[in-house]
Amino acid sequence: MTIDDIDFSALYRSHLDLSGRTRKSPEKWDSRAGSMANKALRSPYSDAFVARMDLRGATSLLDIGCGPGTIALAVADQLERVVGLDYSQAMLDVMQANASREGLTNVQTIHRAWEDDWDDVPECDIVVASRSTTVEDIGAALAKLHAKARKRVYLTHIVGGYFTDPVISRAIGRRAASVPDYIYLINVLHAMGIHPRLDYITNESRLADARDYDDFAYRVAWAMGSLDPDEHERLRAWYDRATPAERKGTPMRWALVSWEKDGE
Ligand SMILES: C[S@@+](CC[C@H](N)C(=O)[O-])C[C@H]1O[C@@H](n2cnc3c(N)ncnc32)[C@H](O)[C@@H]1O
Repeated sequence: MTIDDIDFSALYRSHLDLSGRTRKSPEKWDSRAGSMANKALRSPYSDAFVARMDLRGATSLLDIGCGPGTIALAVADQLERVVGLDYSQAMLDVMQANASREGLTNVQTIHRAWEDDWDDVPECDIVVASRSTTVEDIGAALAKLHAKARKRVYLTHIVGGYFTDPVISRAIGRRAASVPDYIYLINVLHAMGIHPRLDYITNESRLADARDYDDFAYRVAWAMGSLDPDEHERLRAWYDRATPAERKGTPMRWALVSWEKDGE
């Protein structure tokens, strides 16, 4: 057997199934749009992402799972046209509101899911998928990114596979199950004949700036789908005895995977 005999898309899917993670609905993301509205723009994460992008020769950008416009809006003033695609209408509304506030008139949105038909989604010079690639069919998703790019693709995918610190999962009595991390994507791309560049972006955990316990519990419940009353009680007990550093949690690490369309 060689590595060529391994179907990494199928392995990714098997890992995702084992994680027990279910697909979040668009409505669930709608409810998050307000709280993501402001802090997404010009964050240390978006600065680090944009710093690693090469926009030379590019006039257009397509941002998949764009959310409030985290990446597309950060570079919109350097391009003729940016397009945000997301299955959450509330996220797209926030992106347009952010664009208006910044005086940007070259921003278009498309209400669409990864899994939908993309026939009418425009090809763009640059295609981006930032923190939005934990999808069920990773092979199809990567093929779609590649097909829509004229010059370059940039995506970030989680390193290690834990959106919530395993310490917290265990504290509330749940199994700490990882989702498939970036290494699957590298191998799927390899099987597609694509040899990407790899870099990393490290940020504070999403829990690090929680204002108080209620905010902390809200963020944990969001990441875990929901918390039942017993889990809430255990989380409260853990929070009360944790040090400030423990509450802050392990930093979040993203793999930045990028490639040139012509393979250079
Ligand atoms: C973690 S947010 C990332 C937002 C933004 N790209 C960023 O980095 O800040 C994930 C985004 O992907 C969108 N999303 C999740 N699943 C999706 C799907 N199946 N199709 C389209 N968008 C999806 C969500 O609505 C949300 O806006």
